[in-house]
Amino acid sequence: MITDYAGKKAVVTGAGSGIGEALAVGMAERGADLLIVDIRGESLEPVAEKIRALGKEVYTLQADVSLEEECQKIYDYTMEVFGRCDILVNNAGVSSGGGITTIPPRDIYWVYETNVYSHWYMMRRFIPLMEAQGDKCEILNVCSIAGLVTLANSPVYFSSKHAAVALSECVWKTLKQKGSNIDIQIFCPGFIQTNLWDADAYRPERFAAVDDPYYTSEEFKQYPVRIKYVLDHSAPLKETIDKVFDMLGKDQFFILTHDEFDGLIRAQGVFQADMIQPIDPSLFQ
Ligand SMILES: NC(=O)c1ccc[n+]([C@@H]2O[C@H](COP(=O)([O-])OP(=O)(O)OC[C@H]3O[C@@H](n4cnc5c(N)ncnc54)[C@H](O)[C@@H]3O)[C@@H](O)[C@H]2O)c1
Repeated sequence: MITDYAGKKAVVTGAGSGIGEALAVGMAERGADLLIVDIRGESLEPVAEKIRALGKEVYTLQADVSLEEECQKIYDYTMEVFGRCDILVNNAGVSSGGGITTIPPRDIYWVYETNVYSHWYMMRRFIPLMEAQGDKCEILNVCSIAGLVTLANSPVYFSSKHAAVALSECVWKTLKQKGSNIDIQIFCPGFIQTNLWDADAYRPERFAAVDDPYYTSEEFKQYPVRIKYVLDHSAPLKETIDKVFDMLGKDQFFILTHDEFDGLIRAQGVFQADMIQPIDPSLFQ
């Protein structure tokens, strides 16, 4: 949990838009200095302007978190500008609507490498740093309600977010057992008004749409249209992120902001029905 942001050095990925931008600006409002990262480097300057206007230190970095060497670049730049990291927010993520038999493997890799592998790459580097620092540190992994429940569409998005939740739970348990100075929380939102519907525009070069019938199919073309409509009619960003900041200050692993999913989550199983902390690992010994 984070109760004090003053003077803290925070790194936020995917900060050029939506949830990442709102979290970065919200942390600056509460007193943190920021390193903001995005694959679209040009999206960062307007966000940096907002942070500077709050009188906080801010650095920007173009990087693709789906690549291990780019996560190393983020770590190296963090050390160059701050020499430490108190708060790490792994937020960058993408979505794709392809079905199980239609989605090209390259899109499976793109979504998994962005939504799951990036969390590995970043935590592998930042956990040892934070442990060496020794004082209270925090990692916030932005997952999704799609990591807690499943629906009949977007199998690659749902399964990637389930993997991201499971990874964070494993790390939470490992760190708890060690009595680590690092706390981990995960944000699992339902729909929020952001630009996630336009994720296709943020594809790294190596996953660019190629000459495959899928990329001219109605399924491919209609997905962003459908998702844009849903997102445009969903929870407002600012109010939702205000709730996140309230919960970041509490001793709870799961940060949930969309009550309408409560019934579905509870139907998943009794062990996590309160959705505060992961299942006690001693139950399995
Ligand atoms: N908006 C929602 O309804 C919703 C719901 C549940 C979970 N989420 C999750 O929230 C996170 C943020 O999404 P958002 O809704 O703010 O979307 P968004 O598209 O507005 O912002 C995502 C940002 O991540 C950046 N990004 C994408 N791929 C990247 C990469 N490889 N490396 C670095 N940056 C990259 C994009 O350029 C963009 O600025 C994602 O992980 C998403 O899955 C969003």
